[in-house]
Amino acid sequence: MGVTVAAVRVPDGGRRDYPGPSFVRVPGLLRKLWFDRLAMLSDAAAEFGDVVKFAMGPKTLYYFNHPDHAKHILADNAANYHKGIGLHEAGRLILGDGLLTSEGEMWKHQRHIIQPAFRRDRLAAFTSVVTDAGTALTERLRARVGEIIDVSEEMTRLTMSVLGQSLLAADLSPLRMLGPAFEEAQDRAMFEMVSLGALPLWLPAPRNLRFRRARRQLEDAVAVLVAGRAHAAGPHGTDLLSLLAGAYADEQDAGTRWRVLRDELITILLAGHETTASTLSWTWYLLSGHPEAEAALRAEALEVLGDRVPGNEDLARLPFTTTVIQEAMRLYPPVWGLTRRSVKADVVGGYRLPADADVMISPYTLHRHPGFWPEPNEFRPSRFATSAAVTTHRYAYIPFGAGPRVCVGGVDVKRADAALARLAHV
Ligand code: HEM
Repeated sequence: MGVTVAAVRVPDGGRRDYPGPSFVRVPGLLRKLWFDRLAMLSDAAAEFGDVVKFAMGPKTLYYFNHPDHAKHILADNAANYHKGIGLHEAGRLILGDGLLTSEGEMWKHQRHIIQPAFRRDRLAAFTSVVTDAGTALTERLRARVGEIIDVSEEMTRLTMSVLGQSLLAADLSPLRMLGPAFEEAQDRAMFEMVSLGALPLWLPAPRNLRFRRARRQLEDAVAVLVAGRAHAAGPHGTDLLSLLAGAYADEQDAGTRWRVLRDELITILLAGHETTASTLSWTWYLLSGHPEAEAALRAEALEVLGDRVPGNEDLARLPFTTTVIQEAMRLYPPVWGLTRRSVKADVVGGYRLPADADVMISPYTLHRHPGFWPEPNEFRPSRFATSAAVTTHRYAYIPFGAGPRVCVGGVDVKRADAALARLAHV
């Protein structure tokens, strides 16, 4: 089926004869990219292996699907890779220079400021925010027994409420436009990814216009929040907004101060609510199809908690529940694709990668790589049990990314500190 096979050795190391579909398959590929991108990646990995070059007309995507490749690109040689498609145009416009999209010295500075807010001891202070939101959810659902519930909508409401209280000490529920505005923004970023950046944002296309309106709405919402917060709590709060406001207090220019706060808050609201809502929604979905796992989870909760509200210290006492969440994030990682753009040419997995190349690493396909996961498509929480012999590669499971750009919201404190220590070398 049109695989490029001519072996060419090049003097600077690295082969150029990438496996991948030939140009006659481009129309089919584009259709797949548009309608079923996960199938496009999974099928390509099954057909061509761990390294695939998608040459799609003027656009080329280099897809690497071995944990060693993920380690090289995301961690060992991270300095050679900037954020890629989906994040550098639409992402940048909506998130500005927030932590997810910034690069270089600016990113390092921001990460040093923000990371301490995500230390476990700090997060523990917000336990009651989480349990209160959980209790409110339970009451809401109890009142609707017998009705069809949109789980994803409920989980999004839950995670938004937790983020609002913990980041801003604010109730976000009156800001109803936040949800649709974020959806619009994500839609545009996804469109950038599946069209490989083919529609520039400056074109007055309907999709671009909707995106711009969403961006204005998000900025307005954040302005309301920041103003309300400053008024209510003054500069001594312990939430993330207070931390940020304190860190940039010396910045003389009010415009710059506002831009920094705006970009960070929109970033963290976006990065924090959808990922967590998606994890929970997929967890319920998987449990609904695996009654034995659901029963075990219920039994663990009853045994450890009885009918009391959980505390932070209970997390360590719920090992089965933890493995259920880990397995849900393996099968359905909320961030299915990590895109990067190479700065200089590199050699990855023995193949020569040019400078300015668009690169894709997919947690979704890595997490189902048959070389690292027995029965990869099966829901089996026990594979994460500490008693199980975990033989898989450290980079075969990367729901929170890896290397210096690993998620601030998902790492444990030890790994966060190690990542911070490494920043000096990036
Ligand atoms: C299940 C929940 C979550 C998952 C699966 C997840 C996943 C990820 C992934 C894969 C990345 C790396 C992106 C890349 O390398 O291009 C990332 C980065 C990030 N995440 Fe999360 N995330 C989660 C929750 C959160 C939460 C709760 C927050 C904040 C409240 C958050 C804030 C961020 C930020 C700011 C970054 C950028 C870090 C940087 O580039 O230095 N995430 N997340």
